[in-house]
Amino acid sequence: MNKILEYLKYCKHSNIILTGGMKIFDTITEYYIEKGIQPSYPLYLSLSVTSMCNGQCLLCSSESKKFWSGEIDKANPLLKKRLVELSENNPPVVFILSGGEPLLFPTRCKEYLEIFYDTSVIFGLFSNLALDLDYKRLKIVEILEERPFSFIQTSIDSIDKNEHELLRKGTNLAVILSNIKYLKRKNIKIKVNTTISPYNYKSIMDIVKYVFNEGIESLHINPVLPFGRAKDKIDERLCIEIVDALIKVVSSREFNNIKEHSITFPSELIPLSYIGSKYEDILEVYDNSKKMKNKFLSHQFVCGISHENCTCGIGWFPEIYISLEDKKIEEAFRIALSYGKKYYYATCEKCYQYYNCDFESSYTGKCLMMELYNKIEYILNYNTPLSEEESIRRKCLMN
Ligand SMILES: C[S@@+](CC[C@H](N)C(=O)[O-])C[C@H]1O[C@@H](n2cnc3c(N)ncnc32)[C@H](O)[C@@H]1O
Ligand code: SF4
Repeated sequence: MNKILEYLKYCKHSNIILTGGMKIFDTITEYYIEKGIQPSYPLYLSLSVTSMCNGQCLLCSSESKKFWSGEIDKANPLLKKRLVELSENNPPVVFILSGGEPLLFPTRCKEYLEIFYDTSVIFGLFSNLALDLDYKRLKIVEILEERPFSFIQTSIDSIDKNEHELLRKGTNLAVILSNIKYLKRKNIKIKVNTTISPYNYKSIMDIVKYVFNEGIESLHINPVLPFGRAKDKIDERLCIEIVDALIKVVSSREFNNIKEHSITFPSELIPLSYIGSKYEDILEVYDNSKKMKNKFLSHQFVCGISHENCTCGIGWFPEIYISLEDKKIEEAFRIALSYGKKYYYATCEKCYQYYNCDFESSYTGKCLMMELYNKIEYILNYNTPLSEEESIRRKCLMN
């Protein structure tokens, strides 16, 4: 049995999550998934405070724009109204400020967070932390600090200065690390998010060791997804090396000793694990019958809204955007969901594994199971010179 299947088998009996980025998100959605309940409003609401960023990361999925200082640091009144309606009727469980870089507009951030002040909503801030933590920005930290479970998610893709400059262009590693050190003293939960790609997979353990040594409580590692600037920049031939690096990470003492550690394996892992494995071993790991009923994609829980154009989209990677000009967030969520149904199984339905793999954790953006199937069929049909040679050799051996 190959290494991947062995790991996946172990995963089933441990606390390590195989897919799904956020531990908190998983904990919340678990109940709904188990009971087969589809919520009628978003449980996880993410607000893009700006599409502008002080960084210009090579593989940024949100294709952030360069920062222009002329834009006013104020909340969008219509969006504020929509969020007030939501907070009065169906406040989400988690409310995230993201972007771009949200801390470029701290007053906006503050105004949006204050809408949920009287609720028990958990706040999250996604920031590159490559900025000076001035008075206004620290006010946001203070708001987060006051709430249990709230957190700041920051991104570290390398601990090496040169690798960092290649991947996270425009951001300063020393500033980020010093801000993390400062925030750790401030009783705020720090969650490090690492995007693994062909550019950093060899040095990924250095990040794991850094997080462990600094006593940071949460680390999530996910493969770079082929969206935004990352589209067409991914060398899929390296997928196997990346999976190998991820297996090294999950086998390490440091990773397992970080309080919250999670990893997203790319769904390409499934076809890879088929290669050279025994059928019984495969069946032991991928039990389709159980998952079939309860499979939900992020569309069912996640909603992203935008400060700039007052729209709403569902799932980590929305397919359509609904205007909030004339609709409440819950209505827009339900409309998007009704369209989204056709993307319920975003991957193809051509193989028996489509319940296991999902588009949201796909590294190459295509189904490797089908690629593998086609290749095997091609070889079996003696369509390659090599198989022709092999058939001649076998004939010779038989005679
Ligand atoms: C788009 S950023 C916005 C927040 C902030 N600017 C930052 O970098 O932390 C949110 C998260 O997405 C991750 N990310 C960016 N591009 C990605 C990609 N192509 N695939 C997977 N994750 C990506 C980043 O590492 C970051 O943790
Ligand atoms: S810092 Fe975040 S938003 Fe900015 S370019 Fe990098 S990943 Fe994109």
